[in-house]
Amino acid sequence: MPVVSTKPVYSGKAKDLFETDDPSVMRAYFRDSATAFNAQKKGEIHDKGKVNATISAYLFELCEKSGIKTHFIKQISENELLIKKVKIIPLEVIVRNITAGSLCKRLGIKEGKILKNPIVEFSYKDDALGDPLLTRAYIKDALEVADDKILDEITSLALKANEIFKEFFIGVGIKVVDFKLEFGTDKNGELLLADELSPDNFRFWDAKTNEKLDKDRFRQDLGNVEGAYQEMLKRVKEGSKSLIASPSVRNNKSTKYSVKVQVLPKKDILDPQGQAVEKALSSLGYKDISELRIGKEVVFKIDADSPAEVKKIVNEMCERLLANPVIEDFSIEIK
Ligand SMILES: Nc1ncnc2c1ncn2[C@@H]1O[C@H](COP(=O)(O)OP(=O)(O)O)[C@@H](O)[C@H]1O
Ligand SMILES: [Mg+2]
Repeated sequence: MPVVSTKPVYSGKAKDLFETDDPSVMRAYFRDSATAFNAQKKGEIHDKGKVNATISAYLFELCEKSGIKTHFIKQISENELLIKKVKIIPLEVIVRNITAGSLCKRLGIKEGKILKNPIVEFSYKDDALGDPLLTRAYIKDALEVADDKILDEITSLALKANEIFKEFFIGVGIKVVDFKLEFGTDKNGELLLADELSPDNFRFWDAKTNEKLDKDRFRQDLGNVEGAYQEMLKRVKEGSKSLIASPSVRNNKSTKYSVKVQVLPKKDILDPQGQAVEKALSSLGYKDISELRIGKEVVFKIDADSPAEVKKIVNEMCERLLANPVIEDFSIEIK
């Protein structure tokens, strides 16, 4: 466990950043403090720090599993994440699926219209200026904080993240309306998704009722702000549970198991190959052989948390593909 300093090197609107004994690693402490409208409105949301740290940890892991590199290392307490230190590109990368917030204000469009295509837009991360909307030319030629190559890379990562988030959240009855991402470069110059992934930076609506389950409850004084954050934590945990059970997704803590699956035709099923071999053996003089069946053996290695989990996944694999349960028996050996 890294030794941590007690004085934050940076204290933002929602998080404190601390150095660790590894100069490339930081500790982010998520506070309960909430701000809106560029800090004109201030308050506290009970347990927001814990909820946002935990939701962020789950969603960063989801991104990593889907091939998006992030600054996330691990969650070390309810309120704290260890993260790779990056140089933040001062852009707020906003992805929108449904109209809300500043887009509605800017364009005079009603909230709740499904956009023809997801939109990626950039704002300047500068509270004093009110995070103004930027054009590519402003970014490349006026601010000079990113070039076309980085902007293309960020845009494609943001759209990919959007697809991952939409699929994950619709599974737990949530519409992803829009969200804000921050990117940075690590000591090797690698582009990483950074900051946080939480109801502070996402608009989440219940898919059935359109109830708002994010910071808009605080911004618009809708009440039950804490309940909305807790509800989102519950849904994220629910979604992550079914991900871990899925054979295609692994957990970092997992062990490698060797598996041998034996598939054989059922006893009362006609096995022409088996019958032919039995007959041939008999003609060679092996007359005491009976009930010979020929099957197949499938061997592989699998990452999982426990033998019980291996059993569950491999059973499912057998039923879906490796065996035909109507005419074949299978047995599973785990090492
Ligand atoms: N991996 C990281 N390395 C360095 N800085 C980071 C990293 N992730 C996030 N940050 C920065 O940490 C700061 C603290 O977060 P926050 O309290 O949300 O600040 P802000 O008031 O700027 O939104 C933000 O400015 C954010 O850009
Ligand atoms: Mg912030």
